[in-house]
Amino acid sequence: MPAQIGVTGLAVMGANLARNFARNGYTVAVHNRSAGKTDALLEAHGDEGDFIRTESLEELVQNLETPRRVMLMVKAGKPVDAVIDQLVPLLEPGDIVIDGGNSHYEDTRRREAALAEKDLHFVGVGVSGGEEGALLGPSIMPGGSQESYRALGPMLEKISAKYEGEPCCTWISTDGAGHFVKMVHNGIEYADMQVIGEAYDLLRSAAGLEPAEQAKVFTEWNKTNLSSFLIEITAEVLGHVDADTGKPLVDVVVDSAGQKGTGRWTVISALELGTPTSGIAESVFARGLSSQRSQRAIGQEVLEGREEQVELPEGFVEDVRQALFASKLVSYAQGLDMLDNAAAEYGWELKLDEIASLWRAGCIIRAELLDDIMKAYAAAEKPENLLFAPAFSKAIAEAVPAWRRVVATAVRLGIPVPVFSSSLAYYDGLRRKRLPAALIQGQRDLFGAHTYQRIDREGTFHTQWSGDRTEISADDTH
Ligand code: 6PG
Repeated sequence: MPAQIGVTGLAVMGANLARNFARNGYTVAVHNRSAGKTDALLEAHGDEGDFIRTESLEELVQNLETPRRVMLMVKAGKPVDAVIDQLVPLLEPGDIVIDGGNSHYEDTRRREAALAEKDLHFVGVGVSGGEEGALLGPSIMPGGSQESYRALGPMLEKISAKYEGEPCCTWISTDGAGHFVKMVHNGIEYADMQVIGEAYDLLRSAAGLEPAEQAKVFTEWNKTNLSSFLIEITAEVLGHVDADTGKPLVDVVVDSAGQKGTGRWTVISALELGTPTSGIAESVFARGLSSQRSQRAIGQEVLEGREEQVELPEGFVEDVRQALFASKLVSYAQGLDMLDNAAAEYGWELKLDEIASLWRAGCIIRAELLDDIMKAYAAAEKPENLLFAPAFSKAIAEAVPAWRRVVATAVRLGIPVPVFSSSLAYYDGLRRKRLPAALIQGQRDLFGAHTYQRIDREGTFHTQWSGDRTEISADDTH
C-alpha cells in the first residue's frame, strides 16, 4: 500500500511527527539523508504503525499515493531550499510539499510562489509543542492554498492536540501565514517566559523565597487565571535539585538565555509593520543582555545601583502574581495586534478567534487564558485590541494597583523588570489622553520641516521656525 505521507528529516521533531502519523493509522514513508537515523527510528518504534523505509528522495516519492504529501522536517534556512530543489523534479502537478520547520514566513512566501508556478502546493506549517507535542499532538498552524488544505488538513487535524475534542489545527491563510502565526506564537512565548522570570527574580531577590518555596508558589498560581503549561513547568524547574551539588538546578545553570531567532524575527517584523510589541521586544532584548556576559561582569564592578531600602508592601507575592498576569495579557494583546496588522499587509484573512483556539492545547503557550481570548474574538463585536474586550479590560484594571506597586518596588530595589514595566507603560500609553508625541511633531517640524496636523482643523501645517514663526499650510506646497 502506498504511503499517505512522506517525512524527510528524522531528527527528533521529524521522527516524532512521523511516529504520530503512524500511530494515527497513516502509512508513513520515512527518509533521512543518512540512513542511520531512519534505521534507528524503525528499530525503536517501527512496531507503532506502518512505516515504509526509503533511502533516497526518489524512493520516498515513489512510495507515496497521489497527490503526494511530502513533509520536510529539516533545519530552517538553506537546507529547506536544498531539499526542495531535489524534490521538485520528482513531483507532479497537484503534489504538496510541506515545511514543518520554524521557517521564516518570507521564505515560505517565496517558496510558495515558486512552487505554485510549477503547479505544486507549498504548505508552510507552524508546529508547536516541542518534542513531546510532536509525538502526542502538537498545535498546528498550516498556511498555503485552501486546495492543499483539503488534501492535507484532515491528516494534520487528526495528529494535532485536541482541546475538549476539537483539533488544535485549522487552515490559517495563504502562503506564509502559518509560519507567521507560529513566529508570533514564539514571540509571545518569549514574553511569557520573561515575565515568569521577572516574577521569579522579584520573589527571590525582594521577598527572599528560595526556589523550592517558589515551586510551591508557582504550583498554587497554576490554579489561578495564570494556569498554563509555562507556569506548570516553572514549578517543575524550580523544584529540581542538581544531583552533583545538591543545589537548586536554577542556581547552577549559567544565567545567559539562548535563542534560535524566532523571537527576534517577531520583533523585526513588528517594527516593519509598525506594531508596538514592546513586551515581546523587551523579552528578546533581555535574553540579549543576559548573554552579554563580559559587559555584565564589568557592569557589576563599575555601575552603582544606589538602591533604596524598601519595605515590601503587604501581600507582595499576590501583587507579583497580578503584575505577571497583567503583563502577560499585554504581550498577548501585542502579538494578536501584530497578527491583525500583518493580515492587512499581506492580504491574509487571519481569524484571531480560531488562532487563539488552536493555541489552547498542544503548544508551548497553551493557557487557560486562551479560551477567554478565543471567546473575546468570537464575539459579534471584535475588540480592536484584546485589552478592550470587556472581560479583559476589567481583569487588567483590577490588577493595575498591584502592577504599579510591583514595578515601583522593583525600580527602587534595582531589580530589572523590563517586560513588567514596558507592559505597564504600553497600558498607560493606550489610556493617556495626550501623549508627548505632540512635542515630537513640533521638534520634527522645527529641524526638518516635517509638518504636523492640528487638533482643531483639517490639513497639514508647518511653522516657519527660522523666519517669522508664522504657520503656513503645508498642503499648498505639495
Ligand atoms: C514550540 C517552540 C519551539 C522552540 C522555539 C524556541 O512552539 O514548540 O516555540 O519552536 O522551542 O524554537 O526556541 P528558542 O528559545 O531557542 O528561540
